[in-house]
Amino acid sequence: MAEQRHSEIYSAKTNDLRFYFLSKSKNVMSISSENSLKPVNFPPTHRNRFLFFIVLSCTMSSLCPLTVTVTATADVSLSEIGVTYSPGTTLDHLPPPEQVASALQRLKISSVHLPDSDPSAVRAFSYSNISLFLTVPNRDIPSIAANRSNALAWLHHHVVPFYPRAHISAIAVGSDVLNAKYELSNYLLPAIRNVDIALHKLGIYRIAVSTTFSFSNVLATAFPPSSAKFLEPANKLVIKPLLQFLKETNSSFFVNLYPYHIYKLNPGIPIGFALFQENPFNFRDDFTTGVRYRNLFDTMVDAVITALTVAGHENIPVVVAETGWPGFAVKAEADANQVYAEMYLRGLIRHLRSGNGTPLRKGGVAQTYIYELFDRQGNRLRSLQQWGILYSNLTRKYINVDFGSSSRIEVSKHLLWMALGFHLFVAVLLWDV
Ligand SMILES: *[C@@H]1O[C@H](CO)[C@@H](O)[C@H](O)[C@H]1NC(C)=O
Ligand SMILES: *[C@@H]1O[C@H](CO)[C@@H](O)[C@H](O)[C@H]1NC(C)=O
Ligand SMILES: *[C@@H]1O[C@H](CO)[C@@H](O)[C@H](O)[C@H]1NC(C)=O
Ligand SMILES: *[C@@H]1O[C@H](CO)[C@@H](O)[C@H](O)[C@H]1NC(C)=O
Repeated sequence: MAEQRHSEIYSAKTNDLRFYFLSKSKNVMSISSENSLKPVNFPPTHRNRFLFFIVLSCTMSSLCPLTVTVTATADVSLSEIGVTYSPGTTLDHLPPPEQVASALQRLKISSVHLPDSDPSAVRAFSYSNISLFLTVPNRDIPSIAANRSNALAWLHHHVVPFYPRAHISAIAVGSDVLNAKYELSNYLLPAIRNVDIALHKLGIYRIAVSTTFSFSNVLATAFPPSSAKFLEPANKLVIKPLLQFLKETNSSFFVNLYPYHIYKLNPGIPIGFALFQENPFNFRDDFTTGVRYRNLFDTMVDAVITALTVAGHENIPVVVAETGWPGFAVKAEADANQVYAEMYLRGLIRHLRSGNGTPLRKGGVAQTYIYELFDRQGNRLRSLQQWGILYSNLTRKYINVDFGSSSRIEVSKHLLWMALGFHLFVAVLLWDV
């Protein structure tokens, strides 16, 4: 089903997606020869003292930004990064879920999305410290909406035997329902409410209940982000009542968000903008808000945040339920390659770990789940792309993608001490000369 979803997103309507560009010439930096530094000669007696003060001021100026970094990151909650794991639909020769769970702990992956919510996979994670995000399949929505005892039955099968030893944090009732089957949308909110009430009946209050939308299927106008709003009639019939529910229950808005698909549909987007590459030309300005965007991911997140704001719910947390970049495609898709996939994942993790959030939301997204852990089987026509980040022998496909990469706090402290030590050392040497 997820495969189908991908190809459908891929063929999503493109008409409304517009992008705004700035002329490149604006940002060219020029260094004229007049500004180049001329050597200054000091009398020998003063030279060393002068060097000392140069070094001292270098130390101070290099310490200041680092100190700011340390204090600034300390009180920012960093976005949690997880992965999507679908044992039922991936390769035949996958290791058992218990081995996958311990491999994920070794890789320091702290949360996992189980789209199939296979009870044996939930059980496997009961002995780990990894938090779980489960999904009720679309096909179960009508029966759960019709009768709360069906919600209870689902929970008795997937949650009760394992909770709270398995750290289940959220349940999405349905996935991309608006696209999958529009008739289902009438059942969506009743089903969500029944799952929520059934959880309370079981005495469980700490599992958030929501549903997952797909970016391309809920946003009418995505660019610039300030003009985004949810599509009608889905907005009035489904999304607005759902947002009210999410607010009342402290839940989150879950959205699948693929810069890859948007990039493919919009030839004007530079690849570096989609891949988090820092480059003077990789930006887009939103002229309404005066905000400058440095990557496509933030642009899409802020489009979601604008749409939430327009719908009257600007404070609901946003969770990216799926994102990723295909490392391979059967069809000739030149941009589905391992080099770009690695760049995207590295850039994404670095960006989320930076704690910078997005221009419109300082706290950024609450969680992000990378799609996906293992490649899917290539035997059906539709599984044309491979999104996996691990080989089936549980080794990393992208060696430079590090989930356990130390947060900026630790890195900065490290740099801070190195800079301090080095500069003091040089200063002392010079003073003595
Ligand atoms: C489990 O995770 C929590 C927060 O995610 C952390 O505080 C705790 O130390 C972890 N425990 C173990 C045994 O890793
Ligand atoms: C709901 O399902 C239960 C158990 O299957 C059944 O006993 C009950 O009559 C159903 N209620 C409704 C309103 O259909
Ligand atoms: C939601 O969060 C607020 C503040 O943290 C709390 O007062 C309220 O009881 C919570 N509501 C629910 C339904 O959990
Ligand atoms: C795991 O599998 C990949 C791809 O099949 C292979 O390149 C790699 O060497 C294997 N690693 C180990 C440790 O077996």
